Amino acid sequence: MRQNAAYGGAAGPARSAASPRADFTIEQDWAAYTDEEHDIWRTLFHRQDRVLRDRACGEFLDGLRGLGVAADGIPDFRRLNDVLSRTTGWRIVAVPGLVPDAVFFEHLANRRFPSTCFIRSRAQLDYLEEPDIFHDIYGHVPLLMNPVFADYMQAYGEGGLKALRLDALHYLARLYWYTVEFGLVRTREGLRIYGSGIASSKGESVYCLEDSRPNRIGFDLLRVMRTRYRIDAYQETYFVIEGFEQLFTATRPDFSPYYSALRQEADLPPGGRSCRATSSSIAAAAGRRRSPIKKGRADARPRV
Ligand SMILES: [Fe+2]
Repeated sequence: MRQNAAYGGAAGPARSAASPRADFTIEQDWAAYTDEEHDIWRTLFHRQDRVLRDRACGEFLDGLRGLGVAADGIPDFRRLNDVLSRTTGWRIVAVPGLVPDAVFFEHLANRRFPSTCFIRSRAQLDYLEEPDIFHDIYGHVPLLMNPVFADYMQAYGEGGLKALRLDALHYLARLYWYTVEFGLVRTREGLRIYGSGIASSKGESVYCLEDSRPNRIGFDLLRVMRTRYRIDAYQETYFVIEGFEQLFTATRPDFSPYYSALRQEADLPPGGRSCRATSSSIAAAAGRRRSPIKKGRADARPRV
């Protein structure tokens, strides 16, 4: 599935007659879903269940099971929130479609995940330009059950508000794209999926791991933030983390000097193979040679 924008749900059929609140939230109106809509969820759920069994990382599959996201129909956010809030303090809030960047980040920074409510039509099972409830809930929410990833997402929201002030959002959006949406993780069993854009797409779940065409590159924060991405095709490059702790530590420093250094460098194409991972000048400017990661308490949250 492709997305038009990195953030939030996209405009779909409205499910609530009420106007959104000031923070763009609405009621999910779960009782209004039709049998056909529940059946589309079941179709998507069952086929992804088979595809992801040996392709998604353990944390994703554990989160899915723990959350009780069920095969029997579109979940009621109130039920999911009972479990999610007890586990990591996150909540799902319903939004009618795309929300402004600042609103999206404000929700994340307060451990609220905005999800759209509409579900794709049966004709769109394999391709949808906009995130729907299957992408937002099945793709995103299982990892919000993981404490490390849950902290990363909150820090991302705080970092997003800062990036807006520093006019650096395009750099931070690439981090979201190549981790939260399209990330791979190395495990003892081999490469596994954790990105929600992959996890909610049958075709890309297979392509990202088994096709010979895409690059699979070790996670390098600055290279990620320099690399443009495609929104209208499968990714040409996937960045591979060694575990969620790596995301946690890589995003702990203040990103302000990184943004200054990145402005001196050209962007990298989505599928480039020959470029160096990170130029020496950008690494030096960002202080990576001396101290790649600021020392902090083991439980200190990332700051981005
Ligand atoms: Fe998404």
